[in-house]
Amino acid sequence: MRKHGAILITILIIVLIAFAGCPKKNPEKSAESAKTKWTIGMSQCNLGEPWRVQMNADIKSAADADKHPEIKVIYKDAQNDTLKQRSQMEEFISAGVNLIIISPKEAAPLTPVVAQAYQKGIPVIVLDRQVLGDQYTCFIGADNKKIGKAAGKWIVNKLGGKGSVVELMGLMTSTPGQDRHSGFRDGIKGNDVNVIFEADMKWLEPDARKEMESALARFDKIDLVYAHNDHGAHGAYLAAQAAGREKNIIFVGIDALPQEGQAYVKQGILQASFEYPTGGKEAIELGLNILNGKKAEKEVTLSSRFFTKDNIDAGGELLKD
Ligand code: FRU
Repeated sequence: MRKHGAILITILIIVLIAFAGCPKKNPEKSAESAKTKWTIGMSQCNLGEPWRVQMNADIKSAADADKHPEIKVIYKDAQNDTLKQRSQMEEFISAGVNLIIISPKEAAPLTPVVAQAYQKGIPVIVLDRQVLGDQYTCFIGADNKKIGKAAGKWIVNKLGGKGSVVELMGLMTSTPGQDRHSGFRDGIKGNDVNVIFEADMKWLEPDARKEMESALARFDKIDLVYAHNDHGAHGAYLAAQAAGREKNIIFVGIDALPQEGQAYVKQGILQASFEYPTGGKEAIELGLNILNGKKAEKEVTLSSRFFTKDNIDAGGELLKD
């Protein structure tokens, strides 16, 4: 009997050790994948700028697994490379994701791959920058022409109808760059506000700084810099500061993130910043509607606010039509 008991205990110990060594199943994880019905591919053109980091963060919090266990978002960062973004889109298509959100670097070269996904029956939400034509499910973004025009009018008013302006443009192969430019020119029309220097800084602070150095070297009198994003406006400010001229120049930008443009307005670095919302939250809400079989509008236009030192404590002001 004692011998049998010892054998039984030995077997029990061996079994216990064997089970302890087995990889445990993560109950949370398997529950999560059991609930996931849809995979969303998110194609981000780059994460080198605060605004794009914020867009991904807005998507992440709207798609949070506690709120929406039925979706899983896969993120790809094209690192500001159009060809890379195209091949990452192709990867989403061949993986058979259920929906794609794309914030495209440039309009024309990314149009065919967006159309390809759409024609294969994958719903595509184009976010913030547009593609050409209509081969996508929905575009979400604010009205860049309206923002540019409002900036132009604000600038005319600020300069009392006349002055010398530097325009630092966003990437001109992207639609926000084109629209913030044409809207602005419309806004200053019929006044004595002259654009004495313009350059494409491609949305990048270091490029803006370099272009501004050239402008400073060429012109003794610059009244104002209008940059298509706050990142660029800050680059221009740094160039002016290095030349000891920042106090004589007014800086205006676009985006108005609380931690970037709005903070610059509070610090007196920018005199005005016009909001360009990321649309990340709206993309997830709309994506869920589409996945649940609801019809989406072709275009969702987000509203925008503007911030100056006079209105920032009150939360800025809504841009009106
Ligand atoms: C970031 C950014 C923003 C701008 C948006 C326009 O890459 O340049 O500053 O508002 O893209 O598409």
